Amino acid sequence: MSSTAELQKGVIKEEKTEIVVKVKRFSKERGEWWQEYKLAVDRFTQITEVLRRIRSEQDPSLSYRAACHMAVCGSCAMKINGAPRLACKTLALDLVKRYNDNVITLEPMDRFPVVKDLITDMTEFYDKMYSVKPRLYPSPQVLEDKAQHRLRPEDQRLLWKYAQCIWCGLCVSSCPAVRIDEKFLGPAAHAKGFRFLADPRDTIQEERMKILLDSAWRCTYCYMCFEVCPREIEPVEAIKLTRTYTPPEGMSEVSRMGEKHTDAIKESITKSGKLMEAYVYGKAYGAGAIRDFVYFLASGRGKYLLVREKPVNNISEVKKLMGEAK
Ligand code: SF4
Ligand code: SF4
Ligand code: FES
Repeated sequence: MSSTAELQKGVIKEEKTEIVVKVKRFSKERGEWWQEYKLAVDRFTQITEVLRRIRSEQDPSLSYRAACHMAVCGSCAMKINGAPRLACKTLALDLVKRYNDNVITLEPMDRFPVVKDLITDMTEFYDKMYSVKPRLYPSPQVLEDKAQHRLRPEDQRLLWKYAQCIWCGLCVSSCPAVRIDEKFLGPAAHAKGFRFLADPRDTIQEERMKILLDSAWRCTYCYMCFEVCPREIEPVEAIKLTRTYTPPEGMSEVSRMGEKHTDAIKESITKSGKLMEAYVYGKAYGAGAIRDFVYFLASGRGKYLLVREKPVNNISEVKKLMGEAK
């Protein structure tokens, strides 16, 4: 393998590999279609560079978004080989190696309306991001320069991660709760919202709780946002921490239901050492669960309710772990 220094001096020519790029294209006039391009790439070629070359050398009608080419601006988010990724943070030959295939597919992000080819409409995403008031509201004394409010290192350590969001939308594109629940603000807005909710210098915590708490209980904890975020922000962790701000009386019907669900999970594990889904569901949703059970039976999956699982050994140890026994 040639060294980077030798390549920079031009002593060695980098080997090129021929790849096939299949792009899912869209235009209002024509609808959707797949289009193939062929080009040779080396081990440094990012997907944004692949797109730039296709556009400048083969097809100027191909549309995509990219600006910084260094995972900072968040504009090149798309689906690459079926997975949500940043195009500039993905090397073409890494994909060829990983999938053992020189065909690479590029599609627009899921969940976002497509404007043209790989460009999606981010309006709703930005609206939700701005709805959490993504800036600090300092005290009047600080604004009038009569006081300083410094962040302690431990607060900085907690908040730093959530401040790294580049608004790419990849987490939202893979979030099932966003798809089914229009009242859910989505993982990115929650990461941003928590960053200010937990900032001790902020002065509108009550207002932030009203904005964030009901929505936080709408997340299903599937962890997809954790998996796909290119900045390792872990939005689901921000949602978990936001839930801890819920007052004992709850904040809304959804948050009260969420707490019932958590209590039912604890009860199920303490009693049986297991997560008994049917028990948890019935306990949390009460009579409201009947409609779902009818649907469950009608869909032919009722047989799963009859599966008898082996009891857990040493249930007393489980009870100890759950703080129910000495
Ligand atoms: S963990 Fe919650 S916020 Fe993250 S993708 Fe799943 S449902 Fe969405
Ligand atoms: S949380 Fe991560 S995936 Fe979501 S918008 Fe921010 S940077 Fe992108
Ligand atoms: S081009 Fe800016 S994040 Fe990829």
